[in-house]
Formats: sequence, C-alpha cells, structure tokens
Amino acid sequence: MNALVYHGPKKVTVDKVPDAKMLKETDVIVRITSTNICGSDLHMYEGRTDVENGKILGHENLGQVVEVGKAVETVKKGDYVCLPFNVACGFCENCERGFTGACLTVNPGFAGGAYGFAGMGPYSGGQAELLRVPYADFNCLRLPEDAQEKENDYVMLSDIFPTGWHATRLAGFTPGDAIVIFGAGPVGLLAALSASIQGASKILVVDQHPDRLKLAEQIGAIAIDPSKGDAVEQVLALTGGKGADCGCEAVGYQCHDHHGHEVPNLTMNSLVRTVKATGGIGVIGVFIPSDPNATDKLAKQGAIAFDLGTFWSKGQKMGSGQANVKSYNRKLRELIHLGKAKPSMIVSHELPLAQAPDAYRNFDERTAGWTKVILKPGA
Ligand SMILES: NC(=O)c1ccc[n+]([C@@H]2O[C@H](COP(=O)([O-])OP(=O)(O)OC[C@H]3O[C@@H](n4cnc5c(N)ncnc54)[C@H](O)[C@@H]3O)[C@@H](O)[C@H]2O)c1
Ligand SMILES: [Zn+2]
Ligand SMILES: [Zn+2]
Repeated sequence: MNALVYHGPKKVTVDKVPDAKMLKETDVIVRITSTNICGSDLHMYEGRTDVENGKILGHENLGQVVEVGKAVETVKKGDYVCLPFNVACGFCENCERGFTGACLTVNPGFAGGAYGFAGMGPYSGGQAELLRVPYADFNCLRLPEDAQEKENDYVMLSDIFPTGWHATRLAGFTPGDAIVIFGAGPVGLLAALSASIQGASKILVVDQHPDRLKLAEQIGAIAIDPSKGDAVEQVLALTGGKGADCGCEAVGYQCHDHHGHEVPNLTMNSLVRTVKATGGIGVIGVFIPSDPNATDKLAKQGAIAFDLGTFWSKGQKMGSGQANVKSYNRKLRELIHLGKAKPSMIVSHELPLAQAPDAYRNFDERTAGWTKVILKPGA
C-alpha cells in the first residue's frame, strides 16, 4: 500500500509499504478514505519529538471496513467508521472511567496510545491506504447513512472536534461564560465552535494569522491579533478588566511571539493573566516531558517558568492532557448528522495522498489559506 512515512525532520515521503494486516481477532482493517494532517503531526515533522524514522503518520482517520476479525461483534464489512486518535482497550481502569486517552493496556509502561504518534505505542498511522484498528468494537465509531456526504465533517470526530470540546470542559466552561482561546489553528477554532454551541456569551480568539482569525470571526468570535497590540491588554479591555470566565491553551510547547520567536511560557502565563480569579484553564495544546531541540534551557527539560504565584492568588484551576475522544464523539456525531454543527468549515484543502509532502510543508509554514488539510488516499 502507499503511506506517508517520516524519514527525519521535514522529510516525509509517500512510500510503498507492506499492507496493514490483522494481528488479533479483535482487529479490523479499514480502507482509509479521509485522513487529516494535524498540528500534532507538525511537532513530529519539525523533529521536535523522538518519533522514529520509518513511522507511518496519521491519527485523524475515517474509512470503510474491509476486513473483520472473528471476535468483533458490532462492526461489519462495508461500515463507514471514524476512529478516535486514541487507541484504547475499553477495559482497563482508566478506560472504564472514560479516560481513553490514558489507556493502560495499549502502550505498556505509559498511559495512552495513538496511531502514528511519537511515544504512543507501536500503532501505524492512517495517512495510508489501509489501517489496522485494534479493539475494533470499542474504537470504531460507526457512521450513519450520510457518512460519505458529510465525510469532511465526520472525519473531525477523530480528534479536533472532540479535542476542542474537551478544551472547554477542562476549562470548566458553563453557558453564558466569556472564554478566551489562545491559538486559532484547527483545535482552537473548533474549541471556539464548541464554546459557541454550548452558549458562550463572548469568545475571544488570539492568533496572528489573518486567515485563521477570519474563520474565528465566522464562528462568532472576536479576533485578537498580538501583532496589533499586546494580546493580554486587548483581552482585558474586552472583559471589563477582570478577564474571561475561563480560557483554553490551543497552541502547545512551540508557542511563539508574533515575530516567530519561541517563548515556551507565553500562552500559559497569558492565560493566567487573562482568565478571571477563580476561573478555569483548559490546556489542550501539547507540552512534552523533554524537548532536547528547544533553544530555551528550561524547555529542554519540559519545564516552563510558570506564574504560579498569580495562578494561586487568583485561585484558578487547570486541566490538561490528551482528549478522551470517546467521551464526546458519539454525541458530536449527532450534532453533525442533524445539521447542528459543521466542523468542516475550517477545511482549506482536500488532496490525494501523493500530495501529502507538499501539504505538510505548507501547513507547517502556516502558508496563508492552509488551515486544515484532508488527505484522500483513495483519490
Ligand atoms: N491534547 C490533545 O488531545 C490534542 C489533540 C490535537 C491537537 N493537540 C495539540 O493542540 C495544539 C494545536 O493544534 P492545531 O492543529 O490547531 O495546530 P496549529 O499548529 O495548526 O495551530 C496552532 C496555532 O497557534 C498559533 N500560535 C502560536 N503561538 C501563539 C501565541 N503565542 N498566541 C496565540 N496563538 C499562537 C499559531 O499561529 C497557529 O495558528 C498542538 O499543540 C497540537 O499538538 C492536542
Ligand atoms: Zn490531531
Ligand atoms: Zn484501556
């Protein structure tokens, strides 16, 4: 089969590799029809993780089931399914409590597994023609009869729609809240969409890319561009000086100032300053335990200089970690099916798999107009 393979920093190619194969009777094989490039892929693409050469990338996957293991009961050949980026067992103590992003079975010695991801287990990614899905009964979200018609919406259930939603839950969002979101990448934008669906009174989205800010405005958010004045001051001015009720970090450890210089504590400390006393902060952007290629001394050790004193004095709360996609994807599927949510509004490009290397380059450079790419391996 053809697959997008990582060969080192900024080197990805579409290679002929052995077909994805069943390993257990609880597996299915899915012929991938849509698979997205994610901001998380860029951390790997830029050589800022320990992902191994030869890894097939891709954790935002949707497709049609072509082979079904003997022990699989609910998934049938021909079903269209969307796969949570988390690979999870469904029966460990974390999965049982809904924390499928911290499954203890699928990546021994670590809490959490994912397709095509640094440090998340041996699972190949789905930026390929075929994907092996373990514990298929648990991991496959079956899609209704409009699966193909709304495929570009449903594929967002693999990660960024549930992840954006999770960011608002981690922040303790309640209807009527004003929320500030740092980052207008796909995750920040769908956090804004999630806040809007849940009844936000005001959504403030911070980013420096005009094309992404325009999408935030289409969602009903107020766009805040740090290149036009201090972002914290702008948010405070728009929230009566006290700050937003809650906030989300949707950027991660490679956050930077508007000149492009990485400042690893920038978004976290900006959130402490722009969220009101007693407010919550949802940290969905990825931070990693060690980042040897960082220029900052603390960041090399996965640390930042965090304004703990202000955070504590304001009595703020914080939640973080991988999104537990399965906690949300079934209900969000219904919002899409019934026409109440259209997460595909952020999609800028649909491309055949062969064009993936070029798409990686453009998405990584945040070339204007490249907000979200869906690869179509069948095309
Ligand atoms: N926790 C999870 O389960 C989960 C799931 C998916 C993605 N993520 C992470 O979420 C983050 C965002 O993903 P994405 O796909 O939207 O990525 P992206 O890289 O496309 O978007 C990040 C955006 O942040 C902006 N940005 C950079 N510095 C900023 C700053 N100081 N203030 C405001 N905005 C700033 C960039 O301009 C960019 O538009 C990544 O770290 C990704 O790895 C986490
Ligand atoms: Zn993703
Ligand atoms: Zn588990």
